[in-house]
Amino acid sequence: MIKTIDVGLQYGGRPLFSHADLVFSPGNCYGIIGANGAGKSTFLKILSGELEPDRGEVIRDPKERVSVLKQDHFLYDDYTVTDTVLHGNEELCEILRQKEELYAKEEMTEEEGMRLCELEERFAEMDGWSAESDAEILLNDLGIPPALHTARMETLPGDMKVKVLLAQALFGHPDILLMDEPTNHLDLETIAWLENFLLDLDDTTVIIVSHDRHFLNKVCTHIVDVDFGKITTVVGNYDFWYEYTQIRQRQIREQNKKAEAKIRELTEFIARFSANASKSKQATSRKKLLDNISLEDEGVSSRRFPFVDFKPDREIGKDVLVVDSLSKTIDGKKILDKVSFTVRPHDKIAFIGDDPVARTTLFRILSGELEPDEGSYKWGVTTSFSYFPSDNASYFEGCEDSLVDWVRNYSNLVYESDVRSWLGRLLFSGDEVHKKASVLSGGERVRMMLCKMMLSGANVLILDEPTNHLDLESIAALNEGLIRFPEVLLFTSHDHQFVQTVSNRIIDVTAGRFHDMQITYDEYIEQKLRKE
Ligand SMILES: Nc1ncnc2c1ncn2[C@@H]1O[C@H](COP(=O)(O)OP(=O)(O)O)[C@@H](O)[C@H]1O
Ligand SMILES: [Mg+2]
Repeated sequence: MIKTIDVGLQYGGRPLFSHADLVFSPGNCYGIIGANGAGKSTFLKILSGELEPDRGEVIRDPKERVSVLKQDHFLYDDYTVTDTVLHGNEELCEILRQKEELYAKEEMTEEEGMRLCELEERFAEMDGWSAESDAEILLNDLGIPPALHTARMETLPGDMKVKVLLAQALFGHPDILLMDEPTNHLDLETIAWLENFLLDLDDTTVIIVSHDRHFLNKVCTHIVDVDFGKITTVVGNYDFWYEYTQIRQRQIREQNKKAEAKIRELTEFIARFSANASKSKQATSRKKLLDNISLEDEGVSSRRFPFVDFKPDREIGKDVLVVDSLSKTIDGKKILDKVSFTVRPHDKIAFIGDDPVARTTLFRILSGELEPDEGSYKWGVTTSFSYFPSDNASYFEGCEDSLVDWVRNYSNLVYESDVRSWLGRLLFSGDEVHKKASVLSGGERVRMMLCKMMLSGANVLILDEPTNHLDLESIAALNEGLIRFPEVLLFTSHDHQFVQTVSNRIIDVTAGRFHDMQITYDEYIEQKLRKE
């Protein structure tokens, strides 16, 4: 259990949150949500003890073991994979180390012998003998084969490292588990695995920052919202929280409307009759009434929803795209192996599976960035596409243009006022529109790319992981925009709800091969689970 009492923190005079009185209990899973920069990561650091709050205190039982998902992907580079996982439990590792040291001695003093006994006792208590096999089971479950368990972390590709660090955080039943956006670098299947793993924990206090709506809905028993300079908890999952806050806000607005009407009526009465001797008593009592009415202050939410809507300039005819036997080998590895498929009008195809390189390679070929080794593809004459690459660095790095000029480069817009109004829809306002494109954050770059796509008037949108750097509000806005899009979509994403609600066709890319299915994502997952 963790308790916060009157916790508050501010940076540079700006309070992120104040008076946070919260209790986090075992067996529950808390999803921390809030806009970019609201203070979610900061709050998690306060809970873990990494950061001291300006005021208030955090109460934790010192006997309880806290496990935090490590954000630094290079921290364990010198360790083997299994050792990295074991380091999820530092006390256990320390006991192992001390035991080894003592056993290596030729002779032990009586004191050292006693110490060894204590260590062995604690080791047994912690189920130390099965630690290594537990670690290996976790790794296998996450798709890291035994051959790699003795490899050094440094030699692992990025996506595998992420999984090892996840195994480390989950290792050995921590009492308290803290994770900051764990689904960010995970593929859809691993996210599904993590969801089930967390659902099976029954006495851990789990606290997770996330902007993955499906994840929040599936695993969370409570939603902790960082907004309006406060931290508030609602019992329920994300959808429940959303409904609840909508209703609550409507109620506050209606109450305020009524209160305002009453205030007007009383003020008028007082103004008219306070000088009137026969009515002055009534006026005075109304003055008292007036003093007791207060409006509930809604505060200013830090949540902002961008406007995302793609309007194609023209409708697509019957020919969209024919892909015929495409093959591509990169660095000696066959990435695409005789891939063929035909895209029909109104297809919204999600490319999924455990091979992100194959998907990105396909999109790069289709958008003309890369040549195939063999095979061909043909776009229909009525099509025009706009491409959102998974790596957009070339559009921004070293780019000295202001945001206004950047948009001008990629559109027919001339007048600054027109460009500004588009930038405003994507939440860039005031002087911000004059900052350089090269300084933008990951999420800001994505919003600029979406602006470019909206202005393109394309009738085919190719999107490679557009949800990666976005906050929940932007994902929701993009999600709605793409549901409304009337023409053709080819996309990838690891946001479950996004894939489920946008696509009407799934192409699973595994080992260079394509499996084409006219089903929803939930149906696909169900099929897959049945096969396993
Ligand atoms: N060490 C720091 N000094 C000053 N400001 C900081 C520091 N750390 C974070 N901030 C600011 O505090 C705000 C909240 O940051 P953070 O908790 O990372 O947000 P979130 O995780 O909700 O996106 C941001 O505006 C950030 O720039
Ligand atoms: Mg954060």
